[in-house]
Amino acid sequence: MKSTMFDLVKNCFILTICLLCFGSRFALATYPEPDGKKLYDLHCSACHGENGRGGVGVPLALPDFLNTASDQYLQKTIRLGRPGRIMPAFTSLRNEQISAIVQFIHTWSDTTPTQYPETPVQGDRHKGAQLYSKHCAACHGNNGEGGHGTGVTYSRPRDLPIIAPALRNAGFLAAASDQMIKATLIKGRKNTPMPSFLKQGLVEKDINDLVSYIRSFEKTVQQGRDKPVEQQAKPTLVYESSYSFEETVENLKGAAIGANFRIIREQYFNEGLAEPGKEDKQKKIVYFCNFNTLNQALAIDSRVGLFLPCRITVVKHKGKVLVMSINPKLLSNFFNNSELDRLCQQMYETYLAILEETTL
Ligand code: HEC
Ligand code: HEC
Repeated sequence: MKSTMFDLVKNCFILTICLLCFGSRFALATYPEPDGKKLYDLHCSACHGENGRGGVGVPLALPDFLNTASDQYLQKTIRLGRPGRIMPAFTSLRNEQISAIVQFIHTWSDTTPTQYPETPVQGDRHKGAQLYSKHCAACHGNNGEGGHGTGVTYSRPRDLPIIAPALRNAGFLAAASDQMIKATLIKGRKNTPMPSFLKQGLVEKDINDLVSYIRSFEKTVQQGRDKPVEQQAKPTLVYESSYSFEETVENLKGAAIGANFRIIREQYFNEGLAEPGKEDKQKKIVYFCNFNTLNQALAIDSRVGLFLPCRITVVKHKGKVLVMSINPKLLSNFFNNSELDRLCQQMYETYLAILEETTL
């Protein structure tokens, strides 16, 4: 009797423990606590670097940045991005996930996140405009469009270690409060080109005028590349050839050489993946290059290297011979770098000429 009573208590105890364990595990599975570091590594580190050191994106781990950035600023910047600049809008992250990322970003600094009063800064925006041309335009662009290129690594003048962000930008203006912009101008950001303007000889009133001027950008904000979808470049160019597969490959090489390219190599689509001799002989890629254009493109934006050398693919599919390439116009959209526009348009026209000559 005594032992059954004991067993009963024991079983109840075990049952309770099990319920607690599995219950809480179940709860964890349903409501996983977002892991800020993991989310940062997944969504941000490719651009902002491991530990916020910077890359295609500006560095985030700077003490002067973390000192002046409010949680709200960080949250809104992640949610809204910077339209027209390379910083994307993270529309599908949940609020808790964004908060977890923000908390993780704060672990790089031991300062407490700043809270700013909502009070707008009152100043004279006309005076601000004059001060802006004199003190800011060289880095942030005459119209606040931001420096050319992005972040710390790409297409920047060598004497400018970090590209100045766009200020006439819907995402920036929605995220930054007047008081935060003011604090940034007063303090500057040590270890970046952005100086403290109190130390540059401006007084508080000048800074208020500058903030009013920046706020006035809201009326004529740059919305980025808001071309209607139907005018956007198609991602691939596909032409049907009226020649046999082998003839088409020869035509393609001839057309590329005719357009001042040098043929680098040709290979079967799955060469190196399939056993030697067993490659798919109906799919071939021709690689070609023009070193002049290549150097021009790399000087503007070294990320173009990801898509070089130029390549065009010929495939025989269901009796048809197709000649295909990515659309070079897409590159300028993709890199969000308007300096590439002219070059990409030129490449697009050259590709069309090559594709036509190959297939007609
Ligand atoms: C020598 C170049 C340079 C000059 C001059 C300069 N800035 Fe900057 N500014 C920068 C850089 C670079 C950053 C980004 C720093 C960073 O990585 O956090 C920056 C950041 C900022 C930011 C924060 C923007 C953001 O997205 O975080 C504001 C606001 C700003 N600058 C306003 C101004 C104003 C107004 C002036 C003129 C009074 C000015 N800057 C002058 C280079 C400059
Ligand atoms: C594709 C590259 C890219 C990705 C991915 C990216 N960013 Fe950015 N981010 C940028 C660039 C570039 C800027 C500067 C905007 C400019 O030049 O106008 C920026 C700006 C920012 C700023 C403003 C910095 C300042 O000085 O005020 C914050 C904050 C930020 N990013 C956080 C994040 C976080 C957090 C993530 C991940 C959830 C992320 N970014 C993902 C490229 C990126």
